[in-house]
Amino acid sequence: MIGRLNHVAIAVPDLAAAASKYRDTLGARVSAPLALPEHGVTTVFVELPNTKIELLVPLGEDSPIARFLERNPDGGIHHLCYEVEDILAARDRLKAEGARVLGDGEPKTGAHGKPVLFLHPKDFNGTLVEIEQV
Ligand code: CO
Repeated sequence: MIGRLNHVAIAVPDLAAAASKYRDTLGARVSAPLALPEHGVTTVFVELPNTKIELLVPLGEDSPIARFLERNPDGGIHHLCYEVEDILAARDRLKAEGARVLGDGEPKTGAHGKPVLFLHPKDFNGTLVEIEQV
């Protein structure tokens, strides 16, 4: 059911410093910062030949990554995103298999303008999983 790894998201304490590390130290192609108020984050996309890295900092009061950064002040891998062809079919199959879908279970529009859902990390070996319809 899942397809390509769409991105790895890394929560960072300082977006400009992290973007500079990827651009200047690692020599990657790095986007301008993009604010995503619906998701409570500002993100920078790092474009790699086979996937993307998304650098995330909290945006607003109720950011879902604020607590993560409190526990991981240097930053850390926050979630993995896998591509699916049909997000509603994927959701229904996951729920039937006993996986917990976060939030109200309805897809939100993700950072790339496509529908996304998040799955409970306890159901996936401690990894927060995002699925994105492509
Ligand atoms: Co993501």
